[in-house]
Amino acid sequence: MAVDVAGEVCRHTGRQMCPRCSWTRPRDAALLVLRGRTARTALPVAIVVGTVLSLVNQGSTILAGTATTSTWVRVAVNYAVPFTVASVGYLAGRRTAADTTPWQGYLVGYHDARPGITELILGQATDRRAERPYSWLLERLPGRHAVILDLACGSAPTRELVPDARWLGVDFSAGELALAVAAGRGPVVRGRAEQLPIGDNSVGAVCAAMCLPVLTPLDEVLAEVKRVLRPGGTLVALVPSRMWFGRGLLGWWRVLRALGVRSQPWPNPGARDGLPKILRAHGFVVEAGERRVFRREIGDPRAAALVVDGLYLPGIPPDRVEAARAALASWARPGRRLPFPLRRVVAHLPVAG
Ligand SMILES: C[S@@+](CC[C@H](N)C(=O)[O-])C[C@H]1O[C@@H](n2cnc3c(N)ncnc32)[C@H](O)[C@@H]1O
Repeated sequence: MAVDVAGEVCRHTGRQMCPRCSWTRPRDAALLVLRGRTARTALPVAIVVGTVLSLVNQGSTILAGTATTSTWVRVAVNYAVPFTVASVGYLAGRRTAADTTPWQGYLVGYHDARPGITELILGQATDRRAERPYSWLLERLPGRHAVILDLACGSAPTRELVPDARWLGVDFSAGELALAVAAGRGPVVRGRAEQLPIGDNSVGAVCAAMCLPVLTPLDEVLAEVKRVLRPGGTLVALVPSRMWFGRGLLGWWRVLRALGVRSQPWPNPGARDGLPKILRAHGFVVEAGERRVFRREIGDPRAAALVVDGLYLPGIPPDRVEAARAALASWARPGRRLPFPLRRVVAHLPVAG
């Protein structure tokens, strides 16, 4: 299942740690400096230290009016060194380990073992107007004549919502597809999102429910979406959104604490709230990127266990997962609802090119 929970908190901005303020490779660190992300911390240090050093070491020369180019170079160094040291200090605290999870193998095993889990969790969630996530997503599908590709369709929860449409589901999990077929949802094809078994320009719309943050390599997947979509075709995507505050947050907080993590790992963490930007970079025209919070009742320990089971947790020891189930179970009671903030992104391919 794909759900986002509260992420790491950035010490400097007080906001959640994001790719814009953390780094893994030295190249990313250099880019953060060039983009001025260290300036808020490093500039005040550089101004104070640089000014003091310049006054002590070059002040008399400057006041006497005998400063040469080399004096000014020294003054510049007085500012540059503390700026660099403060930037390095800032970056040292913001390094994140490279994600070495073999995601594709993990995801196949996960979904084969838990077919239909995303639908089981999200299918029961509603917003304030009692609307459900999948209906909300499909509202933005274009007219009924377009062929719809459901990318990484899973158990195909969208199929029954568009009964008259020409619809095709693709997923790489045999377990998920078997469940879809058993429910009479089809046609479905087993295949990889990064190598779609579909011809060029063959569909009018792609529906990507809860999958773009997990499909790897995302660049290849989006290139495939562009290849199979007709010019002018529409992509509607549903992705988890970050949660800042709100009713039910305590439930997630308990889960994270018991798991001993600050955030849930994702193959493509940027493809959640950052999805519109990624799509634009791939040549899509983004029409909308609305956020909405859905809530699901966690009325008893069974519902609590289902939700914890619905998280991707590669590398988390089983005793911690068990502790998370227990933590959420102790929070559960009839009427208590856990929030699932989601984002619906609607984009289309330009008609020409
Ligand atoms: C979070 S589930 C979403 C399933 C479905 N769209 C839904 O909303 O219920 C993600 C789905 O992506 C599929 N998946 C992950 N990586 C894939 C890939 N590279 N190619 C095809 N399917 C993939 C998984 O098997 C799983 O069914």
